[in-house]
Amino acid sequence: MPAWSSAARPTRTSRAVTPDASGPFRVGLLGQGTVGAAFGKLLEERADAVEQEVGRRPEVSGVLTRSRGDFRDILERSDLIVELIGGTDPALEYVLEAMRSGRHVVTANKQLLSQHGEELYATAYEHQVQLRFEAAVAGVVPAIRVMGETLAAAHIERVHGIVNGTTNFILTAMEETGASYEEALAEAQRLGYAEADPTEDVSGTDAAAKMAILARLAFGAPVRLDQVPHEGIEHLTAEDIEYAKDLGLSLKLIGTAERIGAGLAVHVHPAFLYGGHPLASVRGSFNAVTIESPAITEITLSGPGAGGSQTASAVLGDVVSAMIPPPTLPPPAIELPLVTDVESAFYLYLEVADRPGVLAQVAEVLGLQGVSIKSVVQKGLGEDARLVMVVHPVLGSKFRAAVDLISRLDFLRSTPRVIRVIEEVFE
Ligand SMILES: NC(=O)c1ccc[n+]([C@@H]2O[C@H](COP(=O)([O-])OP(=O)(O)OC[C@H]3O[C@@H](n4cnc5c(N)ncnc54)[C@H](OP(=O)(O)O)[C@@H]3O)[C@@H](O)[C@H]2O)c1
Repeated sequence: MPAWSSAARPTRTSRAVTPDASGPFRVGLLGQGTVGAAFGKLLEERADAVEQEVGRRPEVSGVLTRSRGDFRDILERSDLIVELIGGTDPALEYVLEAMRSGRHVVTANKQLLSQHGEELYATAYEHQVQLRFEAAVAGVVPAIRVMGETLAAAHIERVHGIVNGTTNFILTAMEETGASYEEALAEAQRLGYAEADPTEDVSGTDAAAKMAILARLAFGAPVRLDQVPHEGIEHLTAEDIEYAKDLGLSLKLIGTAERIGAGLAVHVHPAFLYGGHPLASVRGSFNAVTIESPAITEITLSGPGAGGSQTASAVLGDVVSAMIPPPTLPPPAIELPLVTDVESAFYLYLEVADRPGVLAQVAEVLGLQGVSIKSVVQKGLGEDARLVMVVHPVLGSKFRAAVDLISRLDFLRSTPRVIRVIEEVFE
């Protein structure tokens, strides 16, 4: 992890519980649902291999669910706590109490970290214990480890992520089969990729929580979930995807965290990508994270973003890391202003009356706001026409102002649709 600045170091008051090195390494398991049950099974299967590797045998010392187990009793009998309950209540109190009592904590809980990260990091440092959370972002894809350890000395400029498998599954199905959003969502639910209530995924909230966590790691600045503007995929249509293919674009739900001048922008939006972008080829329920830095150009990590056994594997990896000293500590927070008006290229979809001069008028309104067209496709449909275009990068506020003016023109047949375009390609 990046080095701590000494000014920001809180006072240490205690150290991690030193386990009896001759006995087993005792893991208290909070939650035994999809991930917790898979973790318990995997730990049992891999215990011999871990013992050979690390010299200690991990074993589950107690399990807490809603109907079974007592937290304090489990804590007393554990060297490390694995939190797989989810949500913030009672997970936050359990995790804080575990760290205050000198236990390392491994969690897969994005809600906890994106809403209470600073309190958790400070508590881990104060009590000199490890707080590991690889599985909280992009499942088994080792984005946290690579960013916090391998790239600890790199100056990261930008992180783009497909960090929600449900939405990527839906968008891939729409792109590959021409299905509507509703049809693709129903298929995702049938196959178990989407919950019965998919709101958190399709609204972009889940991705926003993960981007808040990644932004903290990449830039050292505290970012909370409620500071991450996000837009979901519910309003996207098969037509957007179909017409954009003519422009060489494919549609993804992209989380972005990037330096803008002396500040930082973190947001989640549907975005079109050109074929040369490493995230353009990420299909189905897979997740991927692209990290850009001048020293490395870019690194892309991809793999399954969820699933019991996959997530359990990332959790066990964290447990094994925590068994090996010295502890890895989170970096201190640095303050960076959050920038919300960011430059981007945009896709614009207009349904207009099919008559001469329409494109010229649209171009004129865009031009007056400093927006220039990069490419355009026009399709006639009886009396109406569709104008689908991509504009060069421009401040979001300027583009929105131009679209607002366009939406008032008398030849418009429906509300304009706008989607961001990420222009980078890496070849
Ligand atoms: N599922 C995935 O693919 C995935 C992927 C990445 C990260 N995660 C994260 O992993 C964590 C666990 O997810 P999951 O899908 O395994 O959840 P889950 O299937 O809903 O399991 C939750 C477990 O926590 C227990 N629990 C709930 N409230 C409790 C309480 N108040 N006290 C004690 N135990 C309580 C439940 O007990 P009962 O058994 O009694 O109901 C259950 O065993 C979440 O933070 C999630 O975001 C999940």
